[in-house]
Amino acid sequence: MEKINWGIMGTGSIAGAFARGLKSLPDAELIAVGSRKQVTADRFGKLYQVPHCYASYEALVQDQDVDVIYIATPHPFHKDNSRLALEAGKAVLCEKPFTLNAAEAETVINTARQKQLFLMEAMWMRFIPAMVKVRELLTEGAIGEIQMIKADFGFRATFDPHNRLFSPELGGGALLDVGIYPLSLASMVLGKPIEATGMAQLGPTGVDEQTAILLKYPQGQLALLSAAIRTDTLTEAVLFGTEGYIKIHNPLYRPNKLTVVCKRHTDIQPSRLPSIIKRIGYALRLDKVWQQIKSQPGRDIKLPVQGNGYNYEAAEVMRCLRAGALESAIMPLDETLTLMQTLDQLRAQWGLVYPSEV
Ligand SMILES: NC(=O)c1ccc[n+]([C@@H]2O[C@H](COP(=O)([O-])OP(=O)(O)OC[C@H]3O[C@@H](n4cnc5c(N)ncnc54)[C@H](OP(=O)(O)O)[C@@H]3O)[C@@H](O)[C@H]2O)c1
Repeated sequence: MEKINWGIMGTGSIAGAFARGLKSLPDAELIAVGSRKQVTADRFGKLYQVPHCYASYEALVQDQDVDVIYIATPHPFHKDNSRLALEAGKAVLCEKPFTLNAAEAETVINTARQKQLFLMEAMWMRFIPAMVKVRELLTEGAIGEIQMIKADFGFRATFDPHNRLFSPELGGGALLDVGIYPLSLASMVLGKPIEATGMAQLGPTGVDEQTAILLKYPQGQLALLSAAIRTDTLTEAVLFGTEGYIKIHNPLYRPNKLTVVCKRHTDIQPSRLPSIIKRIGYALRLDKVWQQIKSQPGRDIKLPVQGNGYNYEAAEVMRCLRAGALESAIMPLDETLTLMQTLDQLRAQWGLVYPSEV
């Protein structure tokens, strides 16, 4: 199979993780990196054996051999950086959150659609095998109809006003950085909410350091979500259905274990069975089997992550490119836009406006 040539824009922490992820894909080649400085491009190039190292993002997107560019810059630059790549005719995989707000997301999506180029939000969690399994279980109706979702993503970072996480100029705050994960999960399972409300604790730099979110869906389903950059939280999720629940174990963003508890299996009360069946059952010692089933807390499903996890989203991009698809059915652009609208709605409730939005 012909290899797909990748370029990476930006040389920060996620750029490195993604470069390592690409290494586990035999049909991917990282051939170019663009940085704001030659020295950082060269350093990254040496570390990850990248042959073409450019001193500007503009130079990167002009590389004729690059098929697709991964945008790994802070979120306030995603719009311009993605558009730069699209205008140069490149397919784009852009880090989460897709942009700073929905208006920016719409601009980027329109550019991709006008230019007939592939574009996807790098919501890597969706492509991890355990999440693929979650979708299968839901399709099978393993836990009935989903009624409620609980999900969180929080960690305690050291406060530093200049750090990307806390800096308003760099799009800091828990909602955009990690809140997008539980929100994306809720969206994957329940679609578009009809109501979104939340509370946030704004820190000394004015960005949200922790947030609690409530979403309501058309059939009355609810999602209770939270995110934090100054609080360690469980970083897991539970999907509650009419007939059981699925727990997505920590770490939510790259899970490798699910627990499925299905009430259907424990609803059969032997005492309520007709006496003849009961007697046959006891003769066959089925009561022992019943006790065993009843005492089972749930079925654990272990799905190990191969590579560092970023390889799965990259593989989806390459599958789409080879199929001539302009977007991924697993992370479609309209859904990305809806997610950005929900983020906007929540921030508006807290009066959280970023400097570039003023
Ligand atoms: N999917 C995930 O698991 C994951 C994890 C972490 C972060 N992210 C996302 O990835 C993006 C980057 O996060 P990161 O943690 O990698 O950030 P980072 O370590 O600070 O790196 C960001 C890179 O962006 C470039 N950049 C361009 N303009 C910049 C500016 N004005 N200030 C700082 N850097 C600038 C820099 O590369 P050059 O100097 O080479 O130009 C810098 O190294 C964010 O949108 C974040 O939400 C995703």
